[in-house]
Amino acid sequence: MIVAVRLLVLTLFPLTLLSGQSGDVPGVDRLDLIAGMRSADPDRRIAALRAAEPRLAGRSDLVLQGILRRLTKDPDREVRHQVAISLGNTGLGRPVLKRFAEVSLRELLVFAADRSTVRVVIQCCEKKIATMLRELIDDPRFAAEAEGRSEVLRALAEDLLLQRDSEAIVEVLDLINQEPPGWRRQALLSGVLMNLPSGIIDADKLHFAFRPRALDRMRASEDAQLRQAAERIAKVSTWIGGVSPLDRGESALFTRGERLYGLNCVACHRQDGLGTSILAPPLVGSEWVLESDERLVRILTSGLTGPVTVAGKRYQMSGMVGFPGLDDEQIAALIIYLRRAWEHQGEPITTEEVARIRAEIGDHRGPWTEVELLRLRE
Ligand code: HEC
Repeated sequence: MIVAVRLLVLTLFPLTLLSGQSGDVPGVDRLDLIAGMRSADPDRRIAALRAAEPRLAGRSDLVLQGILRRLTKDPDREVRHQVAISLGNTGLGRPVLKRFAEVSLRELLVFAADRSTVRVVIQCCEKKIATMLRELIDDPRFAAEAEGRSEVLRALAEDLLLQRDSEAIVEVLDLINQEPPGWRRQALLSGVLMNLPSGIIDADKLHFAFRPRALDRMRASEDAQLRQAAERIAKVSTWIGGVSPLDRGESALFTRGERLYGLNCVACHRQDGLGTSILAPPLVGSEWVLESDERLVRILTSGLTGPVTVAGKRYQMSGMVGFPGLDDEQIAALIIYLRRAWEHQGEPITTEEVARIRAEIGDHRGPWTEVELLRLRE
């Protein structure tokens, strides 16, 4: 404790001493500023904040910054507005001041969200809007609906859309997917939907490097509102690459899948996935691997028997027994591996999706036939 107090004194003391020397604004006494910012009179607080701006943006002054930080919770609306502006100007300074301003502005949004503050935030923290949005969403103090909050979320989402920064847009879509229905999801959605480009010509579309997985998730959602939103977004989007890289969780599953493949499948389908003319058909380029989750999960859990056509070629082999002993995550891992090995560009699957399909299958005994599988929807 004593050490902590000592440290604090050591950090504050030199600053206190130094101010009033070089770099200060002539004619404005630092102690007057401190007194003004702490005054009971809102007008004096505002005047002091304005007068303190050059000093705040000039260099770190922990005492002034501490007071400014406390004023983010000022009961007076006008004062808070001035705090936003002063923070915006402070943020024009060195990186450490910019970071201070960003954190304090976020506090301001949590404590008292309003339109003018969010405008200042957008101007001041242009490159940090996506981070700020995520931090707000993750902040438990921002969970309940309160005046101005919808407006804040909408304005931040809107700004990211207008910046046309594809990574940030994907982040917003991710946030929308993870939000339960309610005022927050509604605000984010309207920020996105109201600022979509017209998409009439290609140049006026949202450009992504890969087809955004977030958009696929939205399209597959059980929620009609999200599905409709996804359609609208997809209509005005283009992408160059066909398939997005695996995310971290999926990559980990891919590695597990590779090992499971080596243990359970290599003997017949071979390491290169091409199979052999006697033991097993090829998996490379196989529609059974690449197309339907419903069918592939069934083949892996219960097996396949009878003639089967793979990539246009008919195979009549001795059949394959399934692997009912593998759990949902292991099946997901195998599928992700099959769909991305051998230069495949298939869609990964989630463990939850495997679980859902297995629950649907119930206790189907014995291998499936091609005819039965083809009857299932894709
Ligand atoms: C004992 C040999 C054998 C093993 C081991 C085996 N398979 Fe098969 N697999 C076959 C045969 C034979 C068929 C064709 C079934 C038929 O006759 O209808 C087949 C068919 C398939 C098919 C559908 C057809 C195709 O070529 O796309 C997939 C997918 C598949 N296997 C994946 C796997 C995976 C993944 C594993 C490991 C978890 C595995 N198999 C293990 C023999 C095997």
